[in-house]
Amino acid sequence: MATLFKNIKELIQVHEASIAFVSGKDMNVLPTIKGAFLVVEDGLITDFGTMENCPSNDFYEVIDATGKMILPAWCDSHTHIVYAGNREGEFVDRIKGLSYEEIANNGGGILNSAKKLQETSEPDLYDQSKARLEEVMHLGTGAVEIKSGYGLTLESELKMLRVIKCLQENYPIEVKATFLGAHAVPATYKNDKSGYLSLLIDKVLPKVAKENLAQYIDVFCETGYFTVADTERILKAGKKYGLTPKIHVNQFTAIGGIQAGVKFNALSVDHLEIMRDEDINALKNTTTMPVALPSCSYFLSIPYTPVRQMIDAGLPLALATDYNPGSAPSGNMNFVISTACIKMKMTPEEAINAATINGAYAMGLENKLGSITKGKQANLILTKPINSYGFIPYAFGNNQIESVFIKGKEII
Ligand code: NIG
Ligand code: FE
Repeated sequence: MATLFKNIKELIQVHEASIAFVSGKDMNVLPTIKGAFLVVEDGLITDFGTMENCPSNDFYEVIDATGKMILPAWCDSHTHIVYAGNREGEFVDRIKGLSYEEIANNGGGILNSAKKLQETSEPDLYDQSKARLEEVMHLGTGAVEIKSGYGLTLESELKMLRVIKCLQENYPIEVKATFLGAHAVPATYKNDKSGYLSLLIDKVLPKVAKENLAQYIDVFCETGYFTVADTERILKAGKKYGLTPKIHVNQFTAIGGIQAGVKFNALSVDHLEIMRDEDINALKNTTTMPVALPSCSYFLSIPYTPVRQMIDAGLPLALATDYNPGSAPSGNMNFVISTACIKMKMTPEEAINAATINGAYAMGLENKLGSITKGKQANLILTKPINSYGFIPYAFGNNQIESVFIKGKEII
């Protein structure tokens, strides 16, 4: 059955499909149609335009959107939503004065989540993770990337990736999987990081590839975690199996990870809280999408990615949640957009572009979704009655979403 949305106050088109991503000054351009209709057939957008050209109601299920807006569902290109339990205890420790680094050095942090995950059965992990996926879908997310990296053993990394695969199969939203075995050195390899990397490369990666469990490969390239040389070793091995890099870099320190990402044609480099001029320059005229994660900066009270400097230098930018138990226990893209405007001085137009078409690009999905374009998936947000799209970031912490449609079907 085809659906006709009519009397849409403003249809936020974003950009045409021919644009892979938007960058620099174009980030501030957000094409819209005031007084619009939109037709969805077989899960795809088949037509849209101004109300003068609206087709007759006869053949459609009609949704009257008077006073409301429609925009593409959010594209969240960086999450870790498959995890076990939570780290509320560490949250309280940080309130009392311990730093994220001190907690990690005391055996907390990623290793704490890894211990919990190793002790959790696959069905239990699936149940905990699907609740988070459903939660973010209701918050307007229509495509999501999910990483492994809380397993840190052969069995547990595969367990995480299999859970992601089940989510891919059981839910209508696009899910992309990233192998992040090099997230932290597990306690069993404390003094043998190279041995752990060999385990990942020689034992885990071949299984990941054989079972087709990941599309991307990630490394936490950071002081105290994995060096640039470690990163290059993993990316090189991943490439052999056809895995494209999407990496964690420049979160706490700038050590040359961006340059390594660009060298290996990373689809994205993510975090970027600490950026030197040479890091910004390295990203110019490349196909690598910089991704900012403002909820992580908010939660850990660390610097925000200097996106103003980056966009003004002509770079593109995507926004994502980083939803994970340690540094960003929130999958709310609406909050991300507000925080990007309030704390990083992005305009609403830039933030919406960054959270839709550029996020889609950072998952290799820019031809399938991320804008209102004929032939793309009808993953849509229908807002409550609002006066302008700028109200979405402005009214931070409030919810402007009335309903969410994935492949044209309202999720309930
Ligand atoms: O993206 N920075 C590395 N990894 C995650 C957080 C890891 C954790 O604390 O569990 C991140 O922030
Ligand atoms: Fe992350």
